[in-house]
Amino acid sequence: MTSSVTDPDLLSGFPFPFPEDTYRYSTNVEPARTVVATAAGGWGGAVVDIDSEYRHELATREAVLAADPTRHAVLGHMVQASWDAMFTLMRELADTYPQSMSLTEQHDGSWVWCNDLLGIRAHFVYGDESSLGCEPLRYIGSQVQEDIALLDQRAGSLYVDAGLITFAADWSFGFDVGMSFLEIHGPVPRVRADGVITRAHEFLMRLQPHEPYRRTNWTLTIGRRLDVSTELYPQWGPDRDTICTVDDDDFARLVHLRVEVQHLIRLPDSGAVMFLIRTYMLPLSALAQVESWRMRAAQVFAELPADMAEYKGIIKYRDRAAQWLRDHGSAAAADHSE
Ligand code: HEM
Repeated sequence: MTSSVTDPDLLSGFPFPFPEDTYRYSTNVEPARTVVATAAGGWGGAVVDIDSEYRHELATREAVLAADPTRHAVLGHMVQASWDAMFTLMRELADTYPQSMSLTEQHDGSWVWCNDLLGIRAHFVYGDESSLGCEPLRYIGSQVQEDIALLDQRAGSLYVDAGLITFAADWSFGFDVGMSFLEIHGPVPRVRADGVITRAHEFLMRLQPHEPYRRTNWTLTIGRRLDVSTELYPQWGPDRDTICTVDDDDFARLVHLRVEVQHLIRLPDSGAVMFLIRTYMLPLSALAQVESWRMRAAQVFAELPADMAEYKGIIKYRDRAAQWLRDHGSAAAADHSE
């Protein structure tokens, strides 16, 4: 089990995901780029988000890809979508971080991409992989913290036909690639009967370029391990038992609320849908510093129906998480209360 680290921006920028004391699945989409004020700060002003974990997460992604190349795949008909995704992300980065990123067109129609955070200055021709030096999704995936999936829309359905996913929360990109949106959501309890996934599918098929949307999803995770993919289950799965045996201090340091901010973007040139997954993790010990978060998260964890807790893999320790939060209001928390 890896330990917890909490830089100040990881608390102030944390996308606390619970607007109510109970949580159920819903087609919870909203327009992107709207800033959400929280009890600790705020989040959501940009589609791509760079924080103090930038270099660490990029290094982690490189290590995951080196160990398992199946985390990156671009099916033959998705080459145009991959370029489209890279270019869209470069534009987002340049708009959001103009001091350190830029994308400039040259007189001959070629492009110069600069990412000063990583010391990158690249001259490339759109559509010419040799000028970039590697596959475009792989190229931009080494410069954003987001995981990236690309969905092809054909014959009234969406198919996950490309992606660079190294931080999957209990699923396998290598297994899912080529599957339809509806097939992929097959294991999720409730959502078929509730119509959540059918509505999401209809929504995604109508998505328009330049009108990005977003949603959040959450679970609990142990330690700050980003790669909790199905492939590595033997490495992290046993933590779900071990965590039940540690003392209270270790429990609060190790158990993290793991939130995904997911962006849904229609790419303008290829017509593919880009799905970005940005993962944030905050240990219970830090969550408890914000009084309204402490109380709200305790309510949600305790009330979550068993089938959802089972699916999320948190059934063995969610009650203890709720109880720990209830027991650990502190004077320091008053500084942050709403
Ligand atoms: C899981 C909804 C878009 C891939 C889930 C879950 C929900 C959900 C409710 C269960 C999460 C949990 O309990 O932790 C939605 C909605 C979407 C959306 C409402 C759009 C509005 C997408 C897209 C992809 C995707 C575009 C493309 C890759 C997945 C995967 C899982 C998942 C791989 C895990 C499934 C498993 O257990 O194997 N989604 N989703 N979702 N979603 Fe989505």
